[in-house]
Amino acid sequence: MKNKLLAVMFGAVLVLGACGGAKTDKETDKQAGAGGETAAVDPEAVVKSSCIMCHGGNLEGQGNAPSLTDVGSRLSETEIHDVIVNGRGGMPPVKLSDDETNAVAKWLSEKK
Ligand code: HEC
Repeated sequence: MKNKLLAVMFGAVLVLGACGGAKTDKETDKQAGAGGETAAVDPEAVVKSSCIMCHGGNLEGQGNAPSLTDVGSRLSETEIHDVIVNGRGGMPPVKLSDDETNAVAKWLSEKK
């Protein structure tokens, strides 16, 4: 009788342990998934398709469009985001998805 009780308790510990393990796995998956979504946007590719016709193939600037190679030293990520969404002076607003706009603003703000 005592042995049976012990066996049941031992079993319960095993099940609890397994549940804890499963939960951790799920959380890891979630984090990997979120990271994957952000990484799915390649800011450089977005800039190549949406910005270089004005800012130059190497973002060196051309015509009225200034160089973006060191734009992070002049503007914050938020300010760059604002320029993309609303345009500024001679630059029209550029329609990108939220993810793309965020990724491009972050990428450019790191160019100093
Ligand atoms: C139609 C041409 C055109 C396109 C397309 C364009 N830009 Fe511009 N951009 C300009 C011009 C012109 C300016 C200068 C604005 C001014 O007169 O204040 C500018 C300014 C900027 C500035 C401010 C730079 C500074 O030093 O203050 C940023 C940042 C910028 N553009 C980012 C982008 C990004 C990112 C894209 C693509 C998503 C893009 N631009 C697409 C023409 C363009």
